[in-house]
Formats: sequence, structure tokens, C-alpha cells
Amino acid sequence: MDATPGNGKTTGSGNAAVRAGASPAPAASTAQAASTAQAASTAQAAGIAELGAEFERSRTSYGADAMIACDRLVRIYAADGIEVQALQGLDLLIAEGELTAVVGASGSGKSTLMNILAGLDAPTAGSVRVAGNDLAAMSVSDRVAYRRHTVGFVWQQTARNLLPYLTARQNVVMPMRFSGVPRRKRRSRAMELLEILGVGHCAERRPAQLSGGEQQRTAIATALANEPELLLADEPTGELDSATARDVFGALQSANARLGVTVLVVTHDPAVSGQVRRTIAIRDGRTASETLRRAGADEAGNATQHAVEYAVLDRAGRLQLPREMVEPLGMRDRVRLEAEPDHIGVWPDEPQPPGTGEPGTGEPGARPGRHAAGGEA
Ligand SMILES: Nc1ncnc2c1ncn2[C@@H]1O[C@H](COP(=O)(O)OP(=O)(O)OP(=O)(O)O)[C@@H](O)[C@H]1O
Ligand SMILES: [Mg+2]
Repeated sequence: MDATPGNGKTTGSGNAAVRAGASPAPAASTAQAASTAQAASTAQAAGIAELGAEFERSRTSYGADAMIACDRLVRIYAADGIEVQALQGLDLLIAEGELTAVVGASGSGKSTLMNILAGLDAPTAGSVRVAGNDLAAMSVSDRVAYRRHTVGFVWQQTARNLLPYLTARQNVVMPMRFSGVPRRKRRSRAMELLEILGVGHCAERRPAQLSGGEQQRTAIATALANEPELLLADEPTGELDSATARDVFGALQSANARLGVTVLVVTHDPAVSGQVRRTIAIRDGRTASETLRRAGADEAGNATQHAVEYAVLDRAGRLQLPREMVEPLGMRDRVRLEAEPDHIGVWPDEPQPPGTGEPGTGEPGARPGRHAAGGEA
């Protein structure tokens, strides 16, 4: 999966080493020339080997400690001869124990990402590691074990998460039966999870006797039954009114805080995404921006929250400029960058002055307010 970027990097750097190794050395005699050539070729080989090792270190160390590490993830669907690029080189790192929201327009690739992380779908290219498992390299039986023990999944459709003929408690017990958990432990853990998620009183009711919010909280308990390291929820509050959605999101927060499970939740609900420390926005199959919220206190000691939106800089140094910043400035095709001591200014391309053949050279500093983006270095 990493072959293409790997080859590209090694070859590119290798060429640099070739150039360095082959720098001209005046030869006084044939023997001297031969020994110089041999030394150069040894230095060249050593240089290439060192660069290869450096690339391998950077490849394997990317997100080495992360719960989720997606590296240039691509997913292409082919339907009726038309290719849809649902993920277009998505990079993502999520640390263990984080509770993160994923937002993005319809069709931006959120569910595609979640299905890959859940082991339900495989990427077309790129690599994805979850809790140390390389998802692209898993055998069928590894995949079954991964889905049973490492991840839990909650769907948007309440009816899809629970078996209708079992009670809430029996639903939570079911995954533990598949994993061979002893009967007594199954029962006590099911009750403990239902209590943590605030639906202990619903244990003996079937899904049809539960409200939408209670069903989703039971679904979260079921997804947590086998103590997964990662809980994935794809719009778990999408079918609920906003008050109920808050309760269900509160249940996800409890699971994260009390059980330490890493949680990734797709949502369209700003009330949900506004409550997490980190929100990742996906645009056109790539992570485009991140909002980080930090808790603080004002002068009177009242709790405050400070949110900052960042553009994501990918591993190749690319970033997406938000459309709402780019369009008013008429930026298209190319922009001019100005390196400042503490930030980088991004400027619209100048119309070419007639008869010069040179792009415009107006001084950006002379037109304050026209640059699109600048960030603290
Ligand atoms: N099985 C499939 N076959 C073909 N195209 C697909 C398939 N699944 C998804 N797509 C396409 O891939 C793109 C991303 O879809 P995805 O379901 O990941 O979007 P999403 O961000 O979850 O959207 P929504 O917010 O509407 O749920 C869309 O253009 C979609 O039409
Ligand atoms: Mg979706």
C-alpha cells in the first residue's frame, strides 16, 4: 500500500545522494581516478541506504502511538462504470482516549471512513492502523476478531443497532456470548454498562418499548460489551430531536470518561460538535480543518471555552483554504505566498500588466486586508 509514496521518496532522495556522490574530483592518474570513482560509489551507496532507512523510519513512526493512524487513505467506488473517489488521500491521527467529532457535508466521505475503521470496508490505497492493527494486512479471521474485540459500532438507524426480539440486557449480553465471556460476568457487565449509559431501568424491555434515545444508549452499551478500544458512531443522534440527541451524546461522553474508550463520532449537530475538544472537518474525501476547543476561565473565575479553527497541513505540506475565504478574493488556480517572520501571507494572483510578460509585482503590504490567510508560525 505504501509502495508508491515510498518509492517516490526513496528515489527522489536517492538522486540527491547520487549528485552529491558524483561531484567532480580531478584525477591525476588512472589509478587515482579509479579509486576516486570507487570511493564515490561507496559514498553514494551509503547515502542511498541512509536515506532509505530514514524514509522507512518516518513511514513506520507516523502515528506510532496513535489509536487511529490513516496515512493517505484512498477509497474509490466503481458503480456503473463511473468512479467515485470517496476518500482522496485522507490523513488522520487520533490519540488514545480522545473523544473526537467528525463533521462534513453530505457525500464528503465520513461514512466511508467510519466503515473502513470498523473493518467493514477496505481502502483502495493508503494505510490505516487502529490500536496497532494494520487493517489492510488483516486476514479474514483477524478481521472477525478485530470487529469483535477492538471496535464497537453504533449506526444512525436505531433499528439497525439492536435485535428487536431481545431485551436491552439480552442485546448487550449477545456480543459477550460470541466471545465466550462466562454467563455470570456477562450479566453483571451488561447491567453495569446499561447503568453507566443511564438506561439501567430499561434492562428488561425490548427495543420497541424504548424511546429512540433509550435505544441508542442501549446500542452504545451493546457496542461496548466486549470492551473495545475504539467506539465508532456514525450520526448516532441523526434520527433524534435535539434534547434527546444531547442525552445520547452525554452517554458517549460518559463512556469516554468512565471507561476510557476512544470515541469517534460523526455528527451534523452543532450542539454535539460544540461539546468536544476536537472537531475534524472532512471536505472532498480529505481532512480539511480542525477546531480545537480549550476550557479556561475569565477574570471572575467563570468557565469559558475558546475555539480555534485550524487548516490541516498534510504530510506533503498541502492545505485546503476554506472556500469562504478564497472566493471573495477571487483566488483561483494559483496564489502567491509571502513568508513573514511569524506567519505566511497568501495573496491572489495579480492580473498580468499589459506588455510585461511578468506577473504583477504589487507590494502585498501596501494593500492591508487582502490576504486570505496567515497563521502564527
Ligand atoms: N457503495 C458505494 N458505491 C458507490 N458510491 C458510494 C458508495 N458508498 C458511498 N459512495 C459515494 O462516496 C461518496 C462519499 O459517501 P459517504 O457515504 O462516505 O458520505 P458521507 O459524508 O457519509 O455523507 P452523509 O452525510 O450523507 O452520510 C459519495 O459521493 C457517495 O455517493
Ligand atoms: Mg454518512
